[in-house]
Amino acid sequence: MTLILGLETSCDETAAAVVDEQLSVHSNVVATQFDLHERYAGVVPEIASRAHVEKLMPVVTEALTQAGVGTHELTAIAVGHRPGLVGSLIVGVAAAKALAWSLNVPLIGVDHVEAHLSAAALGDGPDLAYPALGLVVSGGHTSLYRLTDAQTLERLGSTMDDAIGEAFDKAAVILGLGYPGGPRIDTLSKTGDASRFNLPRPTLDQHSLDFSFSGLKTALLYAVRGHPVGRGKSASFQRDHVDHDAQTIADFAASFQAAAVDVVIEKLERALHLTAETQDAHGLTPWESPPQSLIFGGGVSANTLLRERVQAFADENALACHLPAMDYCIDNAAMIAGHAHRLLANGETHGLELPVIATTRA
Ligand code: KG4
Ligand code: ZN
Repeated sequence: MTLILGLETSCDETAAAVVDEQLSVHSNVVATQFDLHERYAGVVPEIASRAHVEKLMPVVTEALTQAGVGTHELTAIAVGHRPGLVGSLIVGVAAAKALAWSLNVPLIGVDHVEAHLSAAALGDGPDLAYPALGLVVSGGHTSLYRLTDAQTLERLGSTMDDAIGEAFDKAAVILGLGYPGGPRIDTLSKTGDASRFNLPRPTLDQHSLDFSFSGLKTALLYAVRGHPVGRGKSASFQRDHVDHDAQTIADFAASFQAAAVDVVIEKLERALHLTAETQDAHGLTPWESPPQSLIFGGGVSANTLLRERVQAFADENALACHLPAMDYCIDNAAMIAGHAHRLLANGETHGLELPVIATTRA
């Protein structure tokens, strides 16, 4: 059996996992840092990297113990080395280099976004069918891809401002729901009326595959607090979220979520039906052979409404829908180790000079 230990420290989750070449997950340990960042309503990079230093080796030990695997049984060490917060990435990469060197096994650097697009194959997941339309929705990314195979990606569009998860998190702050906001908006929306507030669905120009969520977020802010009086630091709002009753807050949450999800579905439609007009306007060539599947990943792929709508979209368009299991939607190391198996099979390993890089390759 080929066993890869994967490490993930790109943002605010410290994670380690052991995955075999069949993509069976022997362990998948994730230590979140929600409690450390909650009071700031967002990730503080310096706090995140210090917490990774403290948590990483206990998490690795736990992953090996749960898997019942000794370090001598590991075939390779994989690590997410891009994209992410550089100070966070460096903790995982330094540990992975030390482990690979001391165990004398290959080191494999993995692109976190590509790993999100492999996560649906983990565990009991299916073999992913290519060519595929890929969608990564997370706290740092909102991107559409054309995938010829697991490692050949063409980015069709991405966000011009806030990532969708960031927009959910900021919307939650506006609604007084705390951090992390995405799951809280998801839960509260189930009791809300999504038709009560008609928030904008920004789709940019008629052929664009890029996203923009900052206008939707500002529209929610003004709907909740009223238009500001004055400008800049002296601006004051007419009211705040505490002036709304609980049902109204739930209705805002549901209305926001519906608008954000509508935008994603509209962009999926456009990406599936690339036309000569899209090519003229954005240089994206139509599909040579039609996509077989829709591959979905990233923390926001845990969102209940988005999962339902993406599944329905895939069904309507006769695409296989590859949605990761819930444990593999949020940041985790199983997706890093799983993707590393593909790289290892292609002979792609790295030396100890493996860099950390803030941006994705994809
Ligand atoms: O993939 P991920 O764990 O980290 C990044 O790579 O960014 O994604 C985290 C993001 C956060 O913004 C979080 O609020 C969002 O995913 N998220 C959700 C849900 N669960 C997590 N957003 C909407 N609905 C959810 N159920
Ligand atoms: Zn992620």
